[in-house]
Amino acid sequence: MDKILVHGGRSLEGDVRIGGSKNSALPILAATLLTKDRCVIDRVPDLSDIHYMLTILSQLGCEVERASGVVQVRAEKIRTEAPYEIVRKMRASVCVLGPLLGREKAAKVSLPGGCVIGDRPIDLHLKGFEALGATVTVKGGDILLEAKELKGARINLRGRHGPTVLGTGNIMMAAVLAKGTTIIEGAAEEPEVVDLARFLSAMGANISGAGTQQIEIEGVKELHGANHTVIPDRIEAGTFLVAGAIAGKRVTIRRAEPKHLGAVLEALKNAGFDLTQTEESVTISPNGARRPLHLETIPYPGFPTDMQAQFCALLSTMDGTSVVTETVFPQRFMHVAELKRMGASIELDDHRATINGVERLSGAPVMASDLRASAALVLAALPAEGITEINRVYHIDRGYEAIDEKLNALGAHIERVKV
Ligand code: EPU
Repeated sequence: MDKILVHGGRSLEGDVRIGGSKNSALPILAATLLTKDRCVIDRVPDLSDIHYMLTILSQLGCEVERASGVVQVRAEKIRTEAPYEIVRKMRASVCVLGPLLGREKAAKVSLPGGCVIGDRPIDLHLKGFEALGATVTVKGGDILLEAKELKGARINLRGRHGPTVLGTGNIMMAAVLAKGTTIIEGAAEEPEVVDLARFLSAMGANISGAGTQQIEIEGVKELHGANHTVIPDRIEAGTFLVAGAIAGKRVTIRRAEPKHLGAVLEALKNAGFDLTQTEESVTISPNGARRPLHLETIPYPGFPTDMQAQFCALLSTMDGTSVVTETVFPQRFMHVAELKRMGASIELDDHRATINGVERLSGAPVMASDLRASAALVLAALPAEGITEINRVYHIDRGYEAIDEKLNALGAHIERVKV
């Protein structure tokens, strides 16, 4: 198990290239199960979550080849049971349910367990599958889906905490091969849903409305192989912008999609940072004049929950009192206790953090609890005094490609130590 040591106090300057989106690539790879033909997916990031997904596809019977960022999958003959040993490692494994049901009218996948960012139910996915005509049984820790045929239906996927991203993807993937028309109401509008719809359309699916709250899918008889390039990772992009804000002189993110970063760019501007952008890049130049923020996480196009921890780190180092409210995963504040170990002043009240900026954080041994919380600890450590030792960094490798090397290339001093 690796740990990383961040030697604080270096300032960052330069350009960083953003990789393909993890949360786009995962359901897109699952969608290759929908055809017997070869699919070629480009700009697939090299992350452990992607590795788990490719292993699941192999175990389901797919031929999988990977060369740098390009993954080829051929799902000529497939099985419908995903092995528990791998599924349990990654909650996003649930996104093979939709394509298995769509193509084979059957699926058996383990029910994902709890997760440190909170209780993560999949009731909305299951409600959608039932509406399409599947029988859903939960037995021995597995979800079993079976259907004689799938029929288009009108399904509302909005839950107590808003729409569901993977749920919207799962129902789209099951509905593309159903008979008739499916209308998803309360659909997630995230760019990752739009990217999946683009890939499914390239495979021959008939989908309209992706990126809005209502998606319409006209079922087709079969899908064919397709090539696709995954969109840039907006959360990796946002994380490096916060790195620039917290410890930078001038940092430019390249190969990004600034259009997907609206709420994050607005928050950084409101906090007083200078931003300049082109079609595929954003440059952040801290200018000294910083203002505290009131932030609330909201499904896209609102401020993303996946950037909440990183902003908590930033706001901890800025003058004044900021308030951060988490509405998507109300319990997603595992980073707060660790930031406090570094000297941050944060009060948690239910799903709201009140942050009083301190002059300087100090390095400490801390524990990574989940992906974005780990990123927040790395960011907090950049301007901190002394060395921060971050344990359990496998969390960060799930979603950031070589974050230590990329930050070092900008001037940080981060060591990875094998334990
Ligand atoms: N929810 C339900 N029932 C369901 C599904 C979700 O109540 O059946 C609730 C969740 O508990 C949560 C809210 O709805 O309160 C939104 O959850 P959503 O289903 O949208 O989350 P997800 O699709 O499982 C994806 C990303 C997460 C990201 C969320 C929200 C992937 C692989 N994961 O999860 O990414 O936080 O959308 O934007 O796409 C991350 O990358 O670090 C990460 C956790």
